Amino acid sequence: MKLNIAVLPGDGVGTEVTAEAVKVLKAIAVEFNHIFTFKKGLIGAAAISKTGEALPKETLELCKSTDATLFGAIAASGHDLDLNAKTLPIQGLLDLRKSLDLYASIRPVIAYDSLLNKSPLKRDHIVGTDISIFRELTGGIYFGESELSTDGNSAFDTCKYSREEIERIAHLAFKAAQTRKRKLTLIDKANILESSKLWRKIVKELAPKYADVSVQYMFIDNAAKELILNPKQFDVILTENMFGDIISDEASVIGGSVGLLASASIGNKYAMFEPLHGAYNKAKNKGIANPIASILSAALLLDHFGLFEEAALIREAVEKSLSLHITTPDLNTKYDNISTIKVGDFIEDFINNPEETNLNFTNIHLGQSTII
Ligand code: IPM
Ligand code: MN
Repeated sequence: MKLNIAVLPGDGVGTEVTAEAVKVLKAIAVEFNHIFTFKKGLIGAAAISKTGEALPKETLELCKSTDATLFGAIAASGHDLDLNAKTLPIQGLLDLRKSLDLYASIRPVIAYDSLLNKSPLKRDHIVGTDISIFRELTGGIYFGESELSTDGNSAFDTCKYSREEIERIAHLAFKAAQTRKRKLTLIDKANILESSKLWRKIVKELAPKYADVSVQYMFIDNAAKELILNPKQFDVILTENMFGDIISDEASVIGGSVGLLASASIGNKYAMFEPLHGAYNKAKNKGIANPIASILSAALLLDHFGLFEEAALIREAVEKSLSLHITTPDLNTKYDNISTIKVGDFIEDFINNPEETNLNFTNIHLGQSTII
């Protein structure tokens, strides 16, 4: 298959982690005879310093003219945390999601067996957790009317949803549930918010069309608690934009590191793949950022194009790296010198040589190649 992929490394550790994801995709291309072409674009603080804009026109054009976008990370606020700055880097990502109409952010949360002891949660509570969060991504309070009064003493943000916005992601979530454990949980605040009442009404209307899926409804405050107390009860979670943002970060605790969580941001026409973590500026150029979320985002990209065998090989390589402690310091229990690049190298090696990679594993922490 021929795929043109836009690569937007963005800010902070984005450059380092996307470099590893690209490396892994290149290995997949060689191994499976695909032609993947990568074209880089600017976004975020990096784009503001060069062009004055967080999402330059050329970047948007690039994403529209390629088959998919691999996104790195974006600085949470202005270059020096100046929330009053005219153009915030983060706006680049929000504009991109909106312009490409990427309305569904699919965020898998998995408790890997080899990392169960890295989670602050009790092993028995989390073992076997496998959740797919469907977060609405282009509506709600993130994009509603908002204003700061002229005297600067009052402000509002609006959470608005239309039937169409809710239905299109709800259908995706129901269909995903049908291929999984056939359970869907809508998370809302329907005891208070009108917009949540609409979500609940529409999901209730759709439910009979997916009679094989059992649907439960949960208020966000209770869900925040249940996610920690009993994450295994969840299969597919469907929720609006901001609730989804919050609970997906909360869910990252289950797996032991936010550095593991990947996402696919999907629309009807375009698709983008991005790690959940932010720019983590403090770690920039230190070689300590975990590339796994970005690499697993690349696996989601392959899934998106039906390249399931390829995606599965990436996941196998990732699991192998985790079980052998070939991981960055956020997870590492055994070795203290495994860098971002080394994790990528290991996964690349595994893909090139899935049968032979058992060779020499014991020496990788000494900087020796995994393959003789
Ligand atoms: C995420 C991030 C983004 C969000 C930021 C960087 C705009 O936190 O993808 O979860 O809030 O959606
Ligand atoms: Mn977030």
